Amino acid sequence: MADFFTKRLHDYEEHMSIWEKSYQMFADCLPSDCRKLLDLGCGTGLELDRIWQRDPRIEVTGIDLCRDMLDKLQAKHSDKKLVTVCEDYFQYDLGHEMWDAVISFESLYHFLPEQKETLYQKVYHSLEDGGIFLLGDYIACCDDEEELLRNVCLKKRQKQGIAEECFVHFDIPLTLEHETRIMEKVGFHIEKVLEDPDGATIIIAKKE
Ligand SMILES: C[S@@+](CC[C@H](N)C(=O)[O-])C[C@H]1O[C@@H](n2cnc3c(N)ncnc32)[C@H](O)[C@@H]1O
Repeated sequence: MADFFTKRLHDYEEHMSIWEKSYQMFADCLPSDCRKLLDLGCGTGLELDRIWQRDPRIEVTGIDLCRDMLDKLQAKHSDKKLVTVCEDYFQYDLGHEMWDAVISFESLYHFLPEQKETLYQKVYHSLEDGGIFLLGDYIACCDDEEELLRNVCLKKRQKQGIAEECFVHFDIPLTLEHETRIMEKVGFHIEKVLEDPDGATIIIAKKE
């Protein structure tokens, strides 16, 4: 995964610029009183560019597997309160009641529902009461698409002999119903869903 993003670093931000509108919508969803924020899979921080445009005082911890992406983020925002962590967010201790918001943009669509459930539990515990989990991600349009993509991913794994615990770079988004069901299962209340037909679906989930 880290190698994939290192190879694409030179044109990464240009490639992702098609999501321009979604990044702005995403930043606009953040509550105005947010002070401490954790970003899962922050990359070079395209979502953070917009968030800091709104409020440069926000303190951010960004986790990503790819050191080169994090270095680019640091170089862009050397004037901000920013800590970068080069780790796997499934393994990393997200802390307890530490954050006003945990965010993730276009990073979780490679993972299975059971992996997400474990992560979302950690996200829930890491948030202050009243904190929000803001997810911007690809969403499968229907059960058939979700199942089809999962099957293709499984076949790729089998064909290439990739072990279960190893990562396969293939998109396996969930439907909105399945994604929000996991969030609700771990305790979140779904406050709002914004569906941008040309971009990411944004889910605002609150810890109450
Ligand atoms: C498509 S990029 C999105 C980056 C950024 N959020 C943006 O929208 O520009 C996905 C990022 O998630 C990171 N990532 C994927 N799985 C991860 C994991 N398990 N732990 C930490 N980072 C991860 C990748 O390294 C990559 O930088």
